[in-house]
Amino acid sequence: MDLKINFNGSIQDEAFISVLDHGFLFGDSVYEVVATHGNKLCFLEAHLARLRNSAAGISLEIPSEDEWFVEQISRTVQSANFEETYIRIIVTRGVGEIDIDPGSCDRPNIIIIAAPAKVYPHNYYEKGIDLALVSVKRNARESLNPGIKTGNYLNNILAKMEANRLGAQDALMLNAEGVLTEGTTSNFFFVNEGKLFTPSLDCGILSGITRDVAIQLALENGIPLEEGHWPPEELTHAEEAFVTGTVKKIMPATRLDGKPIGNGKPGPITARFMRLYDQLLDEKYGMQPAQGRSQ
Ligand SMILES: Cc1ncc(COP(=O)(O)O)c(C=O)c1O
Repeated sequence: MDLKINFNGSIQDEAFISVLDHGFLFGDSVYEVVATHGNKLCFLEAHLARLRNSAAGISLEIPSEDEWFVEQISRTVQSANFEETYIRIIVTRGVGEIDIDPGSCDRPNIIIIAAPAKVYPHNYYEKGIDLALVSVKRNARESLNPGIKTGNYLNNILAKMEANRLGAQDALMLNAEGVLTEGTTSNFFFVNEGKLFTPSLDCGILSGITRDVAIQLALENGIPLEEGHWPPEELTHAEEAFVTGTVKKIMPATRLDGKPIGNGKPGPITARFMRLYDQLLDEKYGMQPAQGRSQ
């Protein structure tokens, strides 16, 4: 695949990292995924702020300023020259001894990957996706806080594999207390009696940037929304559900464990959020050629 990779400021077609980097050895790294609209970087400020937050959460000092990131990301996107770009920013602990103690790592590695935008199949948006309530529990906040976006994604990978085995497109995870948390790379919303519900941050979820935007859109458009702790039984009577994420945007979820959610079709509130989100992107970043839902 054609990629451009910015490795500590140098743009290359291919890049290689030492096997002694603790990001590779132990998943000791943080990352962000940024999407584009009209090939403009969406919500970049929020992503950089979360990257710093995540780094602080694992006591990783990022040696570069935000201005450096903005410049390097822009350079990399320009050099890749895709119609729409998927950008992955990774900051690793750096090269050290083969020992879990990060003390031997003296300099983080900063990698910015520019790849062609990911496009999900059209019918994911038209018909909705299947979710599976999996047995793998979301990490406890006291163990590896899901609010920190680290390169250690095994919790989610295990959940995703279970969902695949169950024939679903994604997993919906509970926490150890048995309340709903999130998908493997997305946040979760559901509708009951015309009102929106979403797990609160203290359930142990990533504070998704798309989730924040969706909450803001609900507020601005007078759509009632409540954040809280919801057991999965709440979904038995749900009328609609959707997931949110930088790459997925707003994606309807229409089946849970093989059973329809509501009437099993994307509902009017979900459709409204999909429209509102697309409109917001158009307003902020300029119009994009119709549909295709690339980013
Ligand atoms: C675990 C998890 N939850 C939620 C999200 C959605 O976050 P965002 O909207 O910032 O992409 C992601 C994104 O990758 C994720 O990995």
